[in-house]
Amino acid sequence: MSSGEGYTTPPSGNNGGVTAAGIGSIAVFCARRMREGIISELQAAVAPPALNVVQVWEVDAPTMERFLQDLAREKPVRFTAQQICSFTNNYSTTLGSGGFGVVYKGQLPNGVKIAVKVLKKSIDRTAEEQFMAEIGTIGRTYHINLVRLYGFSYDSLMSALVYEYLENGSLDKYLFSDTQSIEWEKLHEIAIGTAKGIAYLHEECQQRIIHYDIKPANILLDANFLPKVGDFGLAKLCNRDNTHDSVTRYRGTPGYSAPEFMLKNFPITYRCDVYSFGMVLFEIVGNRRNAMTGPTDSLDWFPKHVWDQFEKGELGAMTSSRGIEEKDREKAERMSLVALWCVQDSPDARPPMSAVVKMLEGGVEIMPPPKPFQYLFSVGMDVFRPQEDTNSSSIYSSSEEATSYWYKKSTPIMTKYEIQIATS
Ligand SMILES: Nc1ncnc2c1ncn2[C@@H]1O[C@H](COP(=O)(O)OP(=O)(O)OP(=O)(O)O)[C@@H](O)[C@H]1O
Ligand SMILES: [Mg+2]
Repeated sequence: MSSGEGYTTPPSGNNGGVTAAGIGSIAVFCARRMREGIISELQAAVAPPALNVVQVWEVDAPTMERFLQDLAREKPVRFTAQQICSFTNNYSTTLGSGGFGVVYKGQLPNGVKIAVKVLKKSIDRTAEEQFMAEIGTIGRTYHINLVRLYGFSYDSLMSALVYEYLENGSLDKYLFSDTQSIEWEKLHEIAIGTAKGIAYLHEECQQRIIHYDIKPANILLDANFLPKVGDFGLAKLCNRDNTHDSVTRYRGTPGYSAPEFMLKNFPITYRCDVYSFGMVLFEIVGNRRNAMTGPTDSLDWFPKHVWDQFEKGELGAMTSSRGIEEKDREKAERMSLVALWCVQDSPDARPPMSAVVKMLEGGVEIMPPPKPFQYLFSVGMDVFRPQEDTNSSSIYSSSEEATSYWYKKSTPIMTKYEIQIATS
């Protein structure tokens, strides 16, 4: 093992040499044990296979061993087109489709469930090296609130991404359905978890990742409804401009895309994701699509309604009209205020996602947001009509140390007794 060889290089001094060699051997031994431990943990985590499922580490040991090792090292695995075909049982179960291609349900030979996204052929094929580079970045981006990329397939005929499978599908299924719903407390947790996932992409990754397509369909829910943001890194991987509305050159999905894409009045930065997240927050509070066509073909746009109610000091009435119970109202009002901050016209006025997390979690006092949506006076409300089927100088401090532009630091007790920190 190469890392072991490194440890056993003898240093110059005699005693030191013996000690270093000893330490080296112990380190190699420990590293091996640790790796074995991780691998057996991963194997143990997999549910016992059904009788007719062949365990791959029995018949295909070298491949599976390598796969588990790569997984343990958080490296994405390359699969062949034939393997993808077999994992998906010849593409027999479709989970859905979007701008990048169709998503199929599948299973690795060891029983781990997967979601395979077969990328559209029409997408400008990125050069192999660039594809691998992007895959490397996505595959090594690990956070509890991000969908894990297990591997990929890339050849002249097709390319596909192999993700962890999330049992409860995407958030849109629950927000916009009459038959399925999620209780409010859980929705609040989903909002916070999603914000943490995006904050990680923006603020904690070695290389910042801008998502460009935050929306309920890209928020996946595991068996316990823990949210995981999916499809991050795809915009760069697939040259997204060619997959969505090419007339308006929208990046992402209309209704969630920040206005700067259309108006070109501000540079595109990671704050475009903050805007989209704000739109998702409105949909969570409203438990409905933001844009709906009324009976007289009028546009019923929920975010404007939230602003109007906030301006009148009637956010409480708005949340109760959305069926939110008294016990959850404080959180719903908080969520509405955060949403209004996130969708500010000026990207710099939108809080960074780590501030959004704090504001959603409570414990800080959210400042009253300024009026958003001023740009609608120039473009009109029609930009929000439901689709078929679906460098400014900053006056805002993004410092999160002290009291920020968006909130004042306060403890829950301070909040309870309405005690504020003095500002100069
Ligand atoms: N990892 C996954 N586990 C379970 N279901 C998934 C997974 N990934 C995607 N899906 C399902 O497949 C559907 C289609 O996903 P897809 O990403 O292709 O489309 P989208 O999210 O609606 O649009 P976009 O292409 O803009 O992301 C999702 O709405 C979701 O229900
Ligand atoms: Mg998606």
